[in-house]
Amino acid sequence: MPSKALITGIAGQDGSYLSELLLDKGYEVHGIVRRVDLEDPDHRLGRLKPIQDRLTLHSASLENYPSIVRVVAEIQPDECYHLAAQSFVNYSFDDEFSTINTNINGTHYMLSAVKEKAPRCRFYFAASSEMFGLVQETPQKETTSFHPRSPYGISKVAGFHLTQNYRESYKLFALSGILFNHESPRRGYEFVTRKITNAVAQIKLGMAKELRLGNLEAKRDWGFAGDYVKAMWLMLQQDVPQDYVIATNEHHSVKQFLELAFGHVNLDWRDYVLVDKKFYRSAEVESLRGDYSKAKKELGWSPTVKFAELVKMMVDADLELNQKILSTKSV
Ligand code: GDD
Repeated sequence: MPSKALITGIAGQDGSYLSELLLDKGYEVHGIVRRVDLEDPDHRLGRLKPIQDRLTLHSASLENYPSIVRVVAEIQPDECYHLAAQSFVNYSFDDEFSTINTNINGTHYMLSAVKEKAPRCRFYFAASSEMFGLVQETPQKETTSFHPRSPYGISKVAGFHLTQNYRESYKLFALSGILFNHESPRRGYEFVTRKITNAVAQIKLGMAKELRLGNLEAKRDWGFAGDYVKAMWLMLQQDVPQDYVIATNEHHSVKQFLELAFGHVNLDWRDYVLVDKKFYRSAEVESLRGDYSKAKKELGWSPTVKFAELVKMMVDADLELNQKILSTKSV
């Protein structure tokens, strides 16, 4: 019998890469999606299109405990990857109640459903480097204390502690991956990397004239999402559940990202980028850099895609995508 995996947030960047990885490994892959996603698959499930006929999608809501319990009881998963969340930090300032309610309750519901209906299931929680916020040391590692700077960060700290508590209280095989920023051509357009690479492509192709951004000095530890989902899987294959930092241990500023992305198409970013206070955050996380040495030692995991390669991969993919959009418009 193949192992069964259940993924929440399966339609997102990480969910799509993780599904592909697990299908390649022979898993039976199930995903939780919202009813509206199934009603509009072209828009909402676009990332899953190439593999959709190999997945089983279940309609449920992370705001509705009985619907989660029903899916977990029916599938009896061996592994559960809880990736779903309101994950855009900036929205969390505008809509703090909904971010906190959905993210914390959603994680609590998933943990409780697994404990009640599939207690042998191994549980992965998508924690985040945003938990370090106002960093207490650099680089950040598993033992670094948290100081979240946004409702999103607070919700992830709560999810981390809930996961730890279910591990300690109920002996669930439950752990958290503390993932630093991870990007790809499948990244949502609201995140700074994709916002930049899409704008670079559109400016190069004459479809846009400028790009408005917030804080250009912020530094992030940016890796490739395809590498990071491998780490999620590796964590659940260990004998003992433990939390791991997944990062590259390199950081770069938004400005450095701009230089490389515009430079890749022979443009100077200074000619196109405008700083707009609208995109500044109420409380900024200035700089993140993660020490992944525990993951390297215990999981045998290391990132394979370097920063410059990641930027080029994303710009090239957006050039191709926008070229297609242009050509369908001109038909
Ligand atoms: N999104 C965005 N848009 N960010 C901007 C902009 C802009 O116009 N201008 C500057 N930035 C800066 C932000 O202020 C932030 O410091 C940095 O770019 C990165 O922002 P995001 O790409 O939105 O990512 P994030 O670091 O806030 O959060 C991402 O990474 C976390 C892991 O640390 C998200 O994927 C989270 O869900 C994830 O947990």
